[in-house]
Amino acid sequence: METANLAPSSFNLQPWKVVVVVKDPEGKKRLRRCALDQPKAEEASAVLIVVADPTALEENRDAMLDSWQDLGYTKPEQRSMYVDLIGRLYGPPDSWTRKLFAAKNAALFAMNLMLAAKGLGLETHSMDGFDEAGFKREFQIPDDKLIPMLVAVGYLRSRTKLLPRDFRRPLNEFVSFDSLSKVTVERTSSPKTTG
Ligand SMILES: Cc1cc2nc3c(=O)[nH]c(=O)nc-3n(C[C@H](O)[C@H](O)[C@H](O)COP(=O)(O)O)c2cc1C
Repeated sequence: METANLAPSSFNLQPWKVVVVVKDPEGKKRLRRCALDQPKAEEASAVLIVVADPTALEENRDAMLDSWQDLGYTKPEQRSMYVDLIGRLYGPPDSWTRKLFAAKNAALFAMNLMLAAKGLGLETHSMDGFDEAGFKREFQIPDDKLIPMLVAVGYLRSRTKLLPRDFRRPLNEFVSFDSLSKVTVERTSSPKTTG
């Protein structure tokens, strides 16, 4: 979690929160029920509910600006300019742009978490197959938050063999130079798994 917390974020506003469900068998059962009955939700050592918080802007803005000032990144007279800029970019707390701001930064945090876990010898599995309203009810997550994904974390059981790597599109199907219109995908059959 310490390493994941080094994830970059827009204006360093860090709009994520994490609910860790671990050990408590009753909590894990509730979790599985809300996660479309996916077994890994109950079987993993821990499941992290990654919460994206649109109101983190108000919550963390002053600490972030204080830090920039202390570190000499900004001058005190620039503070109101930043407050204004952030407000204009992300809009009011219930706006679509604000939700997108929270979700994309929280998703980067989640990816960082998965990479960090792998580096520590753990396996992870992200999930968005779940009932968001159910999670909010069961785990006291306020309605204005979003849940971009769950991340199951644990050690691979001995003798478990992972499935082969699933297909990935070749780069020329999604990378283009200068304009997206140059990417055309003409797939006549389903792509081959690269193994
Ligand atoms: C945001 C997100 C949500 C996902 N949700 C689920 C899920 O609910 N259940 C599941 O079994 N896999 C889920 N996956 C895993 C994907 O199916 C998997 O990453 C994809 O098929 C590619 O396979 P690979 O990661 O093993 O290469 C999710 C992955 C991401 C990134």
